[in-house]
Amino acid sequence: MADKTFYITTPIYYPSNRLHIGHAYTTVYCDALARWHRFKGEDVFFLTGSDEHGQKIERAAQESGKTPERYVEEIVATFKELWQRLNISYDDFIRTTEKRHHQVVQEIFRRLYEKGDIYKSTYKGWYCTPCETFWTESKLVDGCCPDCDRPVEMVAEESYFFRMSKYARPLLDHIAAHPEFIQPATRRNEMIAFINQGLEDLCVSRTTFNWGIPVPFDERHVIYVWIDALTNYLTAIGYLADEDKFGRYWPADVHVVGKDILRFHTIIWPTILMAAGLPLPRQVYGHGWVLVKSGKMSKSKGNVVDPLALIEQFGADAVRYFLLREMSFGQDAKYSKRALMERINSDLANDLGNAFHRTQTMLARFCRGQVPAPDPVSSREPIDADLINLAAAVVENTDRALTELDPNAALIEIWRLVGAVNKYIDQTEPWSLAKDPAKSGRLREVMYNVCEALRITALLVAPFLPETGKALWRRLGLSDLDGQRFADLKWGGMAPGVEIGRGEPLFPRLDIDKILAEDESGDEEDETAAEAGEKAAAGKDQQQEEKQDMSQEPTSEELISIDEFAKVKLRLAKVESVAPVPGADKLLALQVDMGGEKRQIVAGIAKYYQPEELVGKTIVVVANLKPARLRGMLSQGMLLAAEDQEGKLGVITVDRDIAPGAVVR
Ligand code: MSP
Repeated sequence: MADKTFYITTPIYYPSNRLHIGHAYTTVYCDALARWHRFKGEDVFFLTGSDEHGQKIERAAQESGKTPERYVEEIVATFKELWQRLNISYDDFIRTTEKRHHQVVQEIFRRLYEKGDIYKSTYKGWYCTPCETFWTESKLVDGCCPDCDRPVEMVAEESYFFRMSKYARPLLDHIAAHPEFIQPATRRNEMIAFINQGLEDLCVSRTTFNWGIPVPFDERHVIYVWIDALTNYLTAIGYLADEDKFGRYWPADVHVVGKDILRFHTIIWPTILMAAGLPLPRQVYGHGWVLVKSGKMSKSKGNVVDPLALIEQFGADAVRYFLLREMSFGQDAKYSKRALMERINSDLANDLGNAFHRTQTMLARFCRGQVPAPDPVSSREPIDADLINLAAAVVENTDRALTELDPNAALIEIWRLVGAVNKYIDQTEPWSLAKDPAKSGRLREVMYNVCEALRITALLVAPFLPETGKALWRRLGLSDLDGQRFADLKWGGMAPGVEIGRGEPLFPRLDIDKILAEDESGDEEDETAAEAGEKAAAGKDQQQEEKQDMSQEPTSEELISIDEFAKVKLRLAKVESVAPVPGADKLLALQVDMGGEKRQIVAGIAKYYQPEELVGKTIVVVANLKPARLRGMLSQGMLLAAEDQEGKLGVITVDRDIAPGAVVR
C-alpha cells in the first residue's frame, strides 16, 4: 500500500430533491482530483454520501405520503445512479441513516457532554425550517431568512448547546498558523471577520421532530444537523471502529464544499473537532456556484438543470469537461446549453478530437498504421525539442495546478499541449514529407513525436474525462491505462511498432443552432435559444435574398467603386479542422476561427486539397456573405482561392503571422 494517502470528501447531499448540475460539479471536481492522486500512486480515499435526517426531509416525506426511510431510499438511489453515469470513482458512499454513523454521532455527543462542551439550556430564536438554521434578530433581512429569503418562525425549546464560543481563539490561531487551511485564500478574511464578530454557542439538539439520531442519554432530543452531518467524514474512515483505517486517512486532505457551506466547514466543524481532541482537516475548499440565466438553481424557481438529461444527450465526459473547464478557481460560472455545446465543438471536437483523428489518418496513410521508430536523438530538430519541452512543462504545471486544487487551470495547461500538437503537425506537414522518399526518416521522427505527445495527452486527460482517456488510449493501440502512473508521463514511453486502432471521431461536431431549435425540452435557461430561433428564420429569408443577389451579380467587365468594394468584408480565419462533406465529392467543410468567432465554411476544393493540408492555415474569408446551405451543410462565409487556366487552384493565405479575425482590405 502506498505511503502517501489522500482523503477527499464531497458534502453529503440532502435527499430532498434530485441532484442538479451544481451538485454534479462538486462531485466531478472531487473525482478528477481523486483520480489524479491515484495516478500519482497515492492511497486515495474518496468519500461522498447523503445527509438524510432533519425536519425538512421529515416534512417532505409526510407530504409525499411516504415514511422518511422510504422517501430517502428512493432519492438516494437516484444519487447513486447519477454518480455511476458520471463515472464517479468514490471509495465509499456514506448515509447518515446507517448504523455505523449513529454510533459515532452518539459517542461524540456523549464525549463532548461529559467534557462540559455540550450543555442543556433553552433556546429561543428565529428558526428557518428549510435551512434548518436559527438566526439572531439582527441577521434577519426584512424579517426573513438571510440565506433563502423565506419567513422564519419564533421557536423556544429546551436544547443542548455546543460551547463553540470557547474555541473562537484557538480557531483563529489555527487559521493564522495554517494560511492554506481555507481556500480560496480570498475567503479566509471573510471567515476571520465572522469569527471576530463573536461566536455564539451552537444549538445541537431539537425536540420538535423525530427524524434524526437521538441524544444517547436524553431520548426526547434528536441530534440536530451539524454534529450529525459533519461527523460523516469521521465515520466513513472508521472512527471508533477501525483505528488503523482512521489513523491512516485522518486528517482529511481536503473537504470540497460549495461556498454556501464553507462557513460550517471552517468554523463549526473545526471547533467540534477541537472539542473532540482530533486534528483538523488540512484544507477546506469552497468553490463557486454553477448559475443559470435566472440565477441560482432552485426547485421553486423551476430552473434546475438535470445532469442526467445532459449526459444522455452529450455523454458524461462532455458534461464533466464543461463543468471543470468553465468554473474558475473559487468563482461562479454560468451554464447554458449553448455554452456547453460550444465547449464540446471547440475544445473536444476541434482541438482534442482533431489532433487524434488527423494522426490516425496520417499513420494509416503514411506509416501502415503503425507508430514508427523515431530517429536518434541527435537528429532532432529545434521544433521537435520545443514540443518535447512543452510536454514536460505541461505535465509539471498540471501537477502543480491540481496540488493547488485547481482542475480548471490544469485543463487549460493540457489543452496547451493539444494545441501544440496540432501546430506541430501544421508546421512539419507530414503529408509533404510523405511525398519525398528522401524525407522518410524525418517523417518517422515527426509521426513518432506526434504519437508520443498524444500518448501523454491521453494520460493527462484521463482523470478528467475517464471514458475519453480510455478511448484515446485504445486508439493509440495501447492497453492497461489503469496501470499507468505519473512516471509514465516521461517522454519516450510510446513503443514503436504499435498498431494504431481506428474509430469514428469521439466528439462529432454539433450543429448548435439546429439542436437548440429542435430542443423539445425548450431549455428556457438557454440564453440564446431565442437567438437561435431568429437565426433559423434568417436562414429562410436568405435563400430568397440569394436569388436576388445572383441577378445583381456584375459582369467581370463592369467596374465598381471603392464603396462597392468596401461592402465586401474580408477577414482572416484560421482553419481549425476540415472534413469531407458526406455525399459530396467536391466539398470540404472547414471549421474556422475568426478571432474568437467560430464558423463553418463549406468550399468546393476537395479535388485540390487533402483535409489535413488545410488545417492550421490562415485563409481569407468573405465574412459578410449571407449564410447558405450546401448539401444540407451550413456555410457561413466563402473562402478566397485563385484558379489558373490549367485548373490549378490555391487557397489565398497571408505571408506572415497575422491574427485570425484581422480585416483584409
Ligand atoms: N447536507 C448539506 C451538506 C452537509 S456536508 C457535511 C448540504 N446539502 S445540499 O444537498 O444542499 O448540497 C450542498 C452542496 O451542493 C453545496 O455545498 C455545493 O457543494 C453543491 N451545490 C448545490 N448547488 C450548487 C450550485 N448551484 N453550484 C455549485 N454547487 C452547488 O448543504
